[in-house]
Amino acid sequence: GEKTGLIIAIDGPSGAGKSTITKALADRLGYLHIDTGAMFRAVALSAQRAGIDGGDDAGLARLCTSLEIAFARTNGCCRVLANGEDVTDAIRTPEISLLTSAISARKVVRDFLLEVQRRMGRQGGVILEGRDIGTVVFPDADVKFFLSASVEERGRRRWLELAARGERITLEETIAAVARRDEQDSGREHAPLRRAGDAVDVDSTGLSFEEVLARMESIVREKERLL
Ligand code: DC
Repeated sequence: GEKTGLIIAIDGPSGAGKSTITKALADRLGYLHIDTGAMFRAVALSAQRAGIDGGDDAGLARLCTSLEIAFARTNGCCRVLANGEDVTDAIRTPEISLLTSAISARKVVRDFLLEVQRRMGRQGGVILEGRDIGTVVFPDADVKFFLSASVEERGRRRWLELAARGERITLEETIAAVARRDEQDSGREHAPLRRAGDAVDVDSTGLSFEEVLARMESIVREKERLL
């Protein structure tokens, strides 16, 4: 069908504020928010429940063919459904984060989700957030952002989130965990975290949420005017 809006790619490391920013930007633009990290997390959760090992490619392939991932706007916004079950909260545990980092390195899983992501996004009017949207999933995206922040800043934000949920972990441990995940995400063979050459860099260190959002929105609005 015909494109009904822009395709916007937001990539960057974990803890840069991607999800919050993407959600707010999608609301303002009236665009669909596609959280690709949540899709990898849904695969990881399903694998864990089915007792499939992170390195079992045949098992993962079988799992993927019977897995339907969808986004729903019930209870406000952005619920993640796996075969109809709301897994929004279940995919956010530290354990699933670690498993997701491992299974997102498997080519079978990436190939499967690549197709799903392209199908969900090709109509336009979408913001996809992830690690390889601007480089692999939609290399021709209309607007590409690379959103980052220092590892200390990202660790601090993550720690505040975890502390608010009652998780007992120190700031130092959290910063170390963020650094470890960066390394896993950047060092892998398939679709490592990489900045697209034509992406707009947004470093949120020391900027408020509103400042980051305003900067990004003005860039998108400008692009919408040109189309
Ligand atoms: O953004 P997040 O923390 O929900 O991502 C979870 C994991 O999935 C993270 O380890 C990186 C990986 N991921 C990926 O490999 N490719 C994407 N497009 C999105 C996430």
